[in-house]
Amino acid sequence: MDSGNVIMIELYELKKSFYNQDVLNGINLTIPHGRTTVILGQSGCGKSVLLKVILRLLSLDDGKIIIDGEDTTDYSESEMMPIRRRVGMLFQGSALFDSMTVWENVAYPLLEHRLETWDEIDQRVINLLRFVDMEDAITKLPGALSGGMKKRVALARALVTNPDFVFYDEPTTGLDPITASKINQLIISTREKYETTSVVVTHDMVSALTVGDFFAFLNNGTIQFSGEKDEFLHSDVPELVEFLEKAAPKHYVNTFA
Ligand SMILES: Nc1ncnc2c1ncn2[C@@H]1O[C@H](COP(=O)(O)OP(=O)(O)O)[C@@H](O)[C@H]1O
Ligand SMILES: [Mg+2]
Repeated sequence: MDSGNVIMIELYELKKSFYNQDVLNGINLTIPHGRTTVILGQSGCGKSVLLKVILRLLSLDDGKIIIDGEDTTDYSESEMMPIRRRVGMLFQGSALFDSMTVWENVAYPLLEHRLETWDEIDQRVINLLRFVDMEDAITKLPGALSGGMKKRVALARALVTNPDFVFYDEPTTGLDPITASKINQLIISTREKYETTSVVVTHDMVSALTVGDFFAFLNNGTIQFSGEKDEFLHSDVPELVEFLEKAAPKHYVNTFA
């Protein structure tokens, strides 16, 4: 299927504030099917809030959200459930259950609904743990794992329901460069193998340029740029130029251009 131009998520004039702090101030963005969209922005600019508002883990104040053609803006909690089931979310802190083994953590979303037999669940969990190279840790508890290993298990869990979308919140933050690079490779393989529409929010330029093939820049509560990688790297939006200068030296960015 030629899905190059199919839009999977549309955001129109999305607004969200807390008390008197405006965080999202009229977000307009379209996210293409089957690609990896990276949303870059400084710490605290509202990237996590944006993902949560899309999934309606936080309410929105104004604007419109369309997911795969469905206007979800006024959806209730129960109407959101089938949408959320289509999205695998990799939270910033991995969010594994400390008292459950790696196997139980990954199986959890399937055990909640029990649509599959035990053997099917076990097969799915093992295949995914193999995919993230964590099958040897199957009986371990999260406390025994490094930060990078936890991310890999959390990714397996995010994929276990066979999602159409995967949202990654700062997937490489706090990881050493070698571990971060493994996670970046997994984000790429996930899109290739499972054909997911991926959204990565990050302030890590190395990760962004490694995994991304569509780019958006979030600043002052709005998307100040969105487009292809070469346009992104050669944008003349002053705030983006400044962000790129700070986030990575010019000669480094040029190696990706
Ligand atoms: N549940 C909340 N209640 C109040 N303020 C919040 C809440 N979540 C986020 N914020 C504020 O919104 C702003 C954006 O936060 P966040 O989306 O986490 O930034 P980041 O881009 O680093 O992910 C921050 O100033 C943060 O303090
Ligand atoms: Mg965040």
